[in-house]
Amino acid sequence: MANTVIVGTQWGDEGKGKIVDMLAEQAGAIVRFQGGNNAGHTLVVEGEQCILHLIPSGVLHQGKKCLIGNGVVLDPEVFLKEIDGLAEKGVDVSPERLMISKKTQIIMPYHRLMDNCRESLKSADSKIGTTGRGIGPCYEDKMNRCGIRAADLADPELLREKIVAGLQEKNVLFEKLFNVEALDAEKVYQEMLPIAERVAPYLADVSSVIQDVNKAGQDVLFEGAQGVHLDIDHGTYPFVTSSNVVSGNAAAGSGCGPKQLERIIGICKAYTTRVGAGPFATELFDETGETLQKNGHEFGATTGRKRRCGWLDMVVLRETARLCDLTEFALTKLDVLSGLSEIKICVAYDYNGEKVDYPPQEQNGMAHVKPVYESMPGWDEDITKASSYEDLPEAARNYIARIEELSGVKVGIVSVGPDRAQTIVR
Ligand code: GDP
Ligand code: IMO
Ligand code: MG
Repeated sequence: MANTVIVGTQWGDEGKGKIVDMLAEQAGAIVRFQGGNNAGHTLVVEGEQCILHLIPSGVLHQGKKCLIGNGVVLDPEVFLKEIDGLAEKGVDVSPERLMISKKTQIIMPYHRLMDNCRESLKSADSKIGTTGRGIGPCYEDKMNRCGIRAADLADPELLREKIVAGLQEKNVLFEKLFNVEALDAEKVYQEMLPIAERVAPYLADVSSVIQDVNKAGQDVLFEGAQGVHLDIDHGTYPFVTSSNVVSGNAAAGSGCGPKQLERIIGICKAYTTRVGAGPFATELFDETGETLQKNGHEFGATTGRKRRCGWLDMVVLRETARLCDLTEFALTKLDVLSGLSEIKICVAYDYNGEKVDYPPQEQNGMAHVKPVYESMPGWDEDITKASSYEDLPEAARNYIARIEELSGVKVGIVSVGPDRAQTIVR
């Protein structure tokens, strides 16, 4: 298969989990390289749904190594809950196959509190609409060089020292700025001890495990979370997440070299969705938007919020292709477009009266673009049982061909339903 990176090309929820689950069969290991439990990746196998927030989406394939890389921020309580849930279903979650990098940053209770305090203090139009999982504050501590790393969970003295030091500063903010009760460092530490003890057996040198898998002649699947337009540098800043989502971070966030990334698949929903605040040029506020939301069951897999829906945006996709060196697209949820008489594609933006084919980089630039649309005929057929490209109606094939033309990237995989089996590989 080749070492393969999976990235979301839009604003997340493109169907990464489904495609990772499908490709995991051919891999020796699956590694998450950024983000945390802000992610919600949905797998459906023979009608049974499984939503994963932290554990790599290859976990349902027995024997495949599932790795959590150094670029991830890991909430240990969520990790334990997730493995308990999987174990109940009979999935093997032993440390022989499930490993956490010793360098992974740990989300602490005070990160979650800080995330929610910060959001509540913001004015209505500056709220990011974060998932409230402590993602931003945890990455802040990492960059500030005071974060707790997974390895520290096996070093109680260091763990206590870092909690005390961290809360010294944060408690001033909690009490004086946010008007909430300060956290007691000793209590946080004591509550952390049993959790740390349970997580400790999963600590590993993930970077070396990746090298070993490749040396044994097997491929690694790098599972991205979020979408490139939520990237901390390249997304619609400040309405972004706090990590680099682009494919290049698969190397840094898992501990391998960039030349090890061979195939880079951009997961692309056949239309666009976004959860949380921030500019969205092709957003629909009409009946068509409601139809997409309803037919696509567009509710956040993590927070349950309604996803905003709109047409496909080629400006967004071309930017992703360039930033990530995409070798192909996996086009998902094509079935959701069935029944629409007309399908629109945004091919460029009108930005201050000028036609542009790139996202403006000024802070409010993306909020002021107007989409320039091209229109294509839709199709009525139910395509959820299509098992080959030829099974798709001509109008659907034309839509795919136009996406390829406008992006310069081929569509290698087409998904026509949530189930693992509802996938066409070209
Ligand atoms: P992720 O975060 O990128 O893994 O995506 P999510 O799991 O958050 O959201 C994608 C949703 O679409 C999930 O409910 C999937 O089960 C579902 N899904 C994935 N592919 C398809 C598809 O081709 N057709 C339909 N109808 N649903 C799909
Ligand atoms: P998956 O991996 C969709 C969004 C949040 C918010 C912004 C910042 O399932 O595609 P954060 O909690 O990260 O600080 O929130 O990013 N967001 C996502 N939107 N899918 C995701 O993950 C997301 N992870 C974060 O809604 O707008
Ligand atoms: Mg999701």
